[in-house]
Amino acid sequence: MHPKRRPLIAGNWKMFKGGPAGLELAGACKELAPKVRGVDLVIAPPFTVLAAAAADLDGTTVGLAAQNLYPKDSGAFTGEISAPMLKECGCAWVIVGHSERRQYFGDTDALVADKVAAALSHDLLPIACVGETLAQREGGETLRVVKQQVEAFLDVIAQSKAAVAIAYEPVWAIGTGKTAGPAEAEEVHAAIRTWLSNKSAELAERTRILYGGSVKPDNAEGLLGCPNVDGALIGGASLDAGSFGAIAEAAQKLAQGK
Ligand code: PGA
Repeated sequence: MHPKRRPLIAGNWKMFKGGPAGLELAGACKELAPKVRGVDLVIAPPFTVLAAAAADLDGTTVGLAAQNLYPKDSGAFTGEISAPMLKECGCAWVIVGHSERRQYFGDTDALVADKVAAALSHDLLPIACVGETLAQREGGETLRVVKQQVEAFLDVIAQSKAAVAIAYEPVWAIGTGKTAGPAEAEEVHAAIRTWLSNKSAELAERTRILYGGSVKPDNAEGLLGCPNVDGALIGGASLDAGSFGAIAEAAQKLAQGK
């Protein structure tokens, strides 16, 4: 964590809590916000909850994210949702390129770059996800793979002035209970920071690089304590306000230098 960047703690609810349970969890996250001042909290519920959650979160500091978007403004794209629609229903953020999208729905590096561009052109802040598979890690290809994924949208984010986030999520750590150790995470985060700074020092400074993959209250401090880890993208543990809050508190303590 770096004193110049506010920690960002984001919850990716995936395909869970789409109805009243989602509104209940959003309400519980709203209660967390005043307890973790200095930390940016973002939640990404399913689409079906976004509009109602936006109304509930209005006037609070909890940011609302969608989990995906389609990179056209409107048109005959059955089943898809555009950046202007997300904006209209109260989102400030959108997750793009999550490994589950890449793996199951064919999101390529080029499509991810188009989604990042669409988000930015409508004032939505992207959380752009990158990360290697287990086979790629074991084959010593981690940095090559992650660099290729980052380079796909690097020009797009460099051209904007927005405070985008990149989430490094090793695929083998997502939902598996395995996390990258702090040193493994920091190695990739530092590399991403270097690629950003090769574009511009300002880009490297403004971009928050989140770690994701089985972040829990008991491993959060170690991961968030790494110099280039600016926050976390949390799946499973974000479905419970207690554990999500505990991770945010760990970030707050580190940010305050406690
Ligand atoms: P996890 O998911 O925390 O359940 O591993 C993280 C993510 O997929 O963003």
